[in-house]
Amino acid sequence: MKTNMPNTISGFSKLSKSEKIDWLLNTYFADKENAKALVERYWNSDEKLQKLHDEFIENTITNYYLPLGVAPNFLINETLYAIPMAIEESSVVAAASKAAKFWLERGGFKAEVLSTEKIGQVHFTYDGDSKDLEIYINEVIKQKFFDDSKHITKNMENRGGGILDIVLKDKTADLENYYQLHATFETLDAMGANFINSCLEQFAQTLKREAALYLKGHLNVVMSILSNYVPQCLVRAEVSCKIEDLKSKDIPNPKEFAKQFKQAVTIAEIEPFRAVTHNKGIMNGIDAVVLATGNDFRAVEAGVHAYAARNGSYSSLTHCAVIDGVFKFWIEIPLALGTVGGLTSLHPLVKFAMEMLQKPNAKDLMKIVAVAGLAQNFGALKSLTTTGIQEGHMKMHLMNILNQFEATEAEKVRLVEHFKTHVVTHSSVVEAIEKIRS
Ligand code: MEV
Repeated sequence: MKTNMPNTISGFSKLSKSEKIDWLLNTYFADKENAKALVERYWNSDEKLQKLHDEFIENTITNYYLPLGVAPNFLINETLYAIPMAIEESSVVAAASKAAKFWLERGGFKAEVLSTEKIGQVHFTYDGDSKDLEIYINEVIKQKFFDDSKHITKNMENRGGGILDIVLKDKTADLENYYQLHATFETLDAMGANFINSCLEQFAQTLKREAALYLKGHLNVVMSILSNYVPQCLVRAEVSCKIEDLKSKDIPNPKEFAKQFKQAVTIAEIEPFRAVTHNKGIMNGIDAVVLATGNDFRAVEAGVHAYAARNGSYSSLTHCAVIDGVFKFWIEIPLALGTVGGLTSLHPLVKFAMEMLQKPNAKDLMKIVAVAGLAQNFGALKSLTTTGIQEGHMKMHLMNILNQFEATEAEKVRLVEHFKTHVVTHSSVVEAIEKIRS
């Protein structure tokens, strides 16, 4: 890139909010008045609330809204939940609600947390003897990592968490002179990113200090950071019922349905192209709840997809069995979530979502989120293997198309009625709007 391009700016972050907006408007927008009005329309008139949002990130110019929807009637381990979902895609909340109701009448969802271990690594190189390094770390300084981190771990330990273990991993077969301190943590109700990263940076200090004193070779710390891959922070959610109990308005032939459904899951287990879309549907539910509860959906996404590929080929996160007349459908996923700290105690709507979920701890939230993913996948596969996805999807999408054409309330009422008995496609909606307007 040329450094003297006309639109570069230095010191942008130091400008006030209105100076930032003015610069943007003057630099990139043809209709400045309109753009400014839009930015201002999305400001919150409550100055305190707006300031809170401004300070979540840097260079904030306005807010970017996502709808917050609710999917009620989720029975999970005998507790009823209404699940908050922040998502822009139509049909997702409707599908979750429908799946919740379906399974409510069939015993609900069962969920259990299998493990809660988080991971962090200090990546370093050492050009001396690997045996010396191993003996030195395991037998001489390992305890020093724990002792030097006491000021960080004290509170977490008082609550029952902390550093679980620190092991040296020799990765020199993969990369010359490359080693790791691979540390495991229990962070209880915190997602734990800050806790883990602070511990790791302390381990790196200790390692450098001690190595300089005692090791013969040269040790260089490259970086210290948590891993968002948490295959030992696992939750499992499940639904099951007798095949004949699957019978409903949409499922006139339960045996055939169970067969088709299981086949659809098996295809996603063995075929990566399908598995990606299958898992995308699962993440529709998972991300929406993760976002509504103020958790880091990018971390969850990265970890979940790595888990889906753990056996060397990208595969389904859900599984299905039809054995002895019983239909069973389950998900097993890694989820590093928090219900304290971070945005959870700052964002008013996150607090609202947490109260809606009866103030869950991290383990409860793991179960709720896994169930949302399983329900979403059930809804998608049920549509895909019966009516096809477009029937329901386009009905939901109808409102988006009507809004695109700025339909009036009266037009919406007429057209929604019309499309109860007609197939929704983009062109059929456009045609119908044009017809009633002409
Ligand atoms: C759309 O957002 C998600 C689906 O494509 C998922 C699937 O195909 O299983 C419907």
